[in-house]
Amino acid sequence: MHPLILAIESSCDETSASIIQAGKVLNNVIASQTVHQKYGGVVPELASRAHQKQILQVVKEAMVSARISQNDLNAVAFTRGPGLLGSLLVGVSFAKGMAVALGIPLIEVNHMEAHVLAHFIGEKNPTFPFLCLTVSGGHTQLIHVKDYLTMEVIGETRDDAVGEAFDKAAKMMGFPYPGGPLIDQYAQLGNSMAFQFPHTSMPDLDFSFSGIKTAFLYFLRDNTKLNPNFIEEHRNDICASLQKHLISMLMKKLKLACDQTDIKQVAIAGGVAANSELRKSINEFSQKFGWTSFIPEFQYCTDNAAMIAIAAHYKFLKNQFSTLDVAPLANLQIGD
Ligand code: KG4
Ligand code: ZN
Repeated sequence: MHPLILAIESSCDETSASIIQAGKVLNNVIASQTVHQKYGGVVPELASRAHQKQILQVVKEAMVSARISQNDLNAVAFTRGPGLLGSLLVGVSFAKGMAVALGIPLIEVNHMEAHVLAHFIGEKNPTFPFLCLTVSGGHTQLIHVKDYLTMEVIGETRDDAVGEAFDKAAKMMGFPYPGGPLIDQYAQLGNSMAFQFPHTSMPDLDFSFSGIKTAFLYFLRDNTKLNPNFIEEHRNDICASLQKHLISMLMKKLKLACDQTDIKQVAIAGGVAANSELRKSINEFSQKFGWTSFIPEFQYCTDNAAMIAIAAHYKFLKNQFSTLDVAPLANLQIGD
């Protein structure tokens, strides 16, 4: 069977559609929403309205670029969760409409499992078992991946996600949303040893980023009291030091997870996987500890429908279809 599947992603602020045929991703159309920039974060109500506006065009574009007609499709897949409920509803409803109209099966996909499975889109794939550090604006998870559809969360954040810590810190410095990529950009010009931040210690493989967020707020407040131009004058050094600190918190737990599970295949996923310091650290640790590392292409790190498509492909092969009464779940967990 060489299934031809349309996949839709609408969990947060990217409306995306992708076509996959026989496990090969044919395209990955993404419409990003710019409406949130001036608010310093994603506004859920605006996100769902933007999805509603964009979804038809995005799906059409994916079908046209793959040169297929809707009658060729064998299934339609969508992100069930986790994500913003109003945003998810747009994708779920659209997918259901197509499945009913075409009389084809519906496949629900867990967004976090899909971030992991993005590693099977390209040529260089990990073998099982491997560890995946999924780092995004909404999640920070360490996942023990046993098979395509069998994964276990072995560590996660108790509060904020690391991408959120990047974005909130950036907002405190007056950068537009999302500030993570800007911190990365300025950090490359700065000295990462210039400033020190406190380490929050969490038991086992869990993370916490709320403490560093507060510490950073006080750090900026105290220093701007002494020098009102502190941020402008030290921008690059502040970004480099903060970035180094956040990434070292991730690497510490990733190393511990490798030691505890005795797994040496390491993958990173999610928007923060684009971070240059994280990529550098993964390569350094790989050399030092004999890991084999996997870093997906940038377009498959941030939210995209190609990762939903590859997950749907494996579900199709196992006949894992959804019924029409399936509803989106904002806090869907891996393994649910
Ligand atoms: O996976 P993603 O697109 O959406 C979520 O599911 O959250 O991740 C977006 C997050 C944002 O917090 C953004 O600031 C962060 O990824 N991000 C980065 C970089 N590129 C994206 N953080 C640090 N450095 C980067 N280069
Ligand atoms: Zn995501």
